[in-house]
Amino acid sequence: MYVCLCKGVTCGAIRSAVQEQGAVHLRDLSRNLGVATQCGKCACAARQVLQDALDGSACCAGASEAAA
Ligand code: FES
Repeated sequence: MYVCLCKGVTCGAIRSAVQEQGAVHLRDLSRNLGVATQCGKCACAARQVLQDALDGSACCAGASEAAA
């Protein structure tokens, strides 16, 4: 699922950033992937996906609700 439409960043890309690059904050995702650096509308959904990834929760659980 796309989390950031402006930069074409998916849930999987955010999870990879967490696992492979050690991202722990939204600013890490912004720096590494460009998340929330254009319109900013994805910030809440990106935070949710990031938190789910850090917690080890299932992919995109709740992210679609946050993005809606
Ligand atoms: S949707 Fe992510 S910056 Fe616009």
